[in-house]
Amino acid sequence: TEESFLEKMDRAGIEHAYPVRQIRREPPGPDPGSPVDAAVLDIDIFSPLTTAERDNLAAGLRRAAFGSGEEIIRQGDRGDSLFVILRGRVEVRVASEGQEEIVDTLGAGSFFGEMCLLTGAPRSATVRALEDVEVVPVTVEAFRGIVAQNPAVLEAVTGVVSRRRS
Ligand code: CMP
Repeated sequence: TEESFLEKMDRAGIEHAYPVRQIRREPPGPDPGSPVDAAVLDIDIFSPLTTAERDNLAAGLRRAAFGSGEEIIRQGDRGDSLFVILRGRVEVRVASEGQEEIVDTLGAGSFFGEMCLLTGAPRSATVRALEDVEVVPVTVEAFRGIVAQNPAVLEAVTGVVSRRRS
């Protein structure tokens, strides 16, 4: 394959006149895929957890990043994770009978994707990043683990679901 301009520069020992980061598309966020500090789980749904339980949960989680306009969840897909928003805003769009409607905008500290996780039904909406967004995916297995330790978490989530459904 052909050598890129930057590789040619490197090989010739020529220093870049400007930082490479500015011209390469980098994923948003400081360290996507990086560990999750237990402090960021200090949000409503996890409030029933003890500090030890929160540390435990955080140890098994990783961050994920999405760029502005990117779909995080698509209506009708199968899924096995809910997402906690660390940074940025997302919009929730529901399509029915050919009409699409924005039903909500969610930001840091909020979560989405819980319905699929609880019911096993396909995703009920499309969730799209409105700007650079950082989330923490929580798999159904991880979520079951938390609920087994502390059932109050399940009540916190089902409370939000009934409000969103109404
Ligand atoms: P889920 O069905 O797994 O995937 C789409 C997500 O969008 C859904 O879970 C909720 O988290 C969210 N969602 C669906 N409908 C609404 C609504 N009316 N208000 C806010 N969020 C919603």
